[in-house]
Amino acid sequence: MQAQPNQVLENNIRYFETRWNNLEPRQIFRAEAYILQKYLGHAHSARLHLTLADLGCGAGRITKHLHLLEGATVIGMDIAIEPLWRARSENPSALFVRGSLAELPIATGAVDFCICAFNGLDYIYPAALRRQALVEMRRVLKPGGIVVFSSHNLWAYFTTFRILRLRSLWSYYTRRNGYLMEPNGLITYHARRHGLLREVAAVGLQVLEVVNSDPGGWWRPWVFDPWLYYVCRLGSAAVIGAPAS
Ligand SMILES: C[S@@+](CC[C@H](N)C(=O)[O-])C[C@H]1O[C@@H](n2cnc3c(N)ncnc32)[C@H](O)[C@@H]1O
Repeated sequence: MQAQPNQVLENNIRYFETRWNNLEPRQIFRAEAYILQKYLGHAHSARLHLTLADLGCGAGRITKHLHLLEGATVIGMDIAIEPLWRARSENPSALFVRGSLAELPIATGAVDFCICAFNGLDYIYPAALRRQALVEMRRVLKPGGIVVFSSHNLWAYFTTFRILRLRSLWSYYTRRNGYLMEPNGLITYHARRHGLLREVAAVGLQVLEVVNSDPGGWWRPWVFDPWLYYVCRLGSAAVIGAPAS
C-alpha cells in the first residue's frame, strides 16, 4: 500500500521536532567543508555581499558556517519549528523562516548559494513533490548561482549490506518508486546517481560535481557512500558573483 503524503509529512515533522538526535552543532562533514571552501572561499576574501540560504536547516549546523562569511545575508529555512528556534538562538543575525522545501518562501532569483545538507530533500514524498523542491531551488537562484544538496545513495544499501535493511530493500522493490522505510520509520528517498543527474538536468541545473563524503578518500569509492553531495549551478558563470553568460 502506498503511503499518504500528508501522513508522511506529519510523521517527518514529528520526528524532526522531537526525536531527531541532532548532530553536534559544530560538526561538519568533510564533503561540506570542501564544498564551502571551494565555492564560497573566494567570496570571503573578495568581500562579496552574497545571499546564502540553508534549506532544511534543522538546528543550523550549516547556517553557522555560512554565517562566518562576512557581509553575507544568511537565510535558514525548515518545516520543523523547534530546530529553527535552536538555529536562531545561535545565529541571531540570520533570518529564519518556516516553510516547505517544495514551496520555498524566498523570492525568485534572490539567492547566490543555497544548500540542503544532510539529505533534507529525501524526506519529501512523493517523488513529484521532491522534484518540485529541485525546481524551487532553481527558481530562487540568481544566474550563476550554486545549489548544493545531498541525497541517499541507493548503491550503499547493496554494498553495506545489513540484515536489518532487508525489509527496506523489499519495500523498495515492491514499490519501485525510490522510497524505502528507514529503521527510524521515516520514508526516505534513495537515489540512483545517474537517475538523479538526469533529474537535475531536467529541471535546468548543470551538475558541476558529485562529492563523496570524504573527497579525496581513495579508499572509499562512491558506491559505498551512504550519501553523496551534488553541486549544481544555474547558467554558466564560473564563479559566484560573476554574470552568467
Ligand atoms: C537530517 S535533517 C538535516 C538538518 C540540517 N540540514 C543539517 O545538515 O544538520 C533534515 C531536515 O530537513 C527538514 N525537512 C524535512 N522535510 C522538509 C520539508 N518538506 N520542508 C522543509 N524542511 C524539511 C527536517 O525538518 C530536518 O530539519
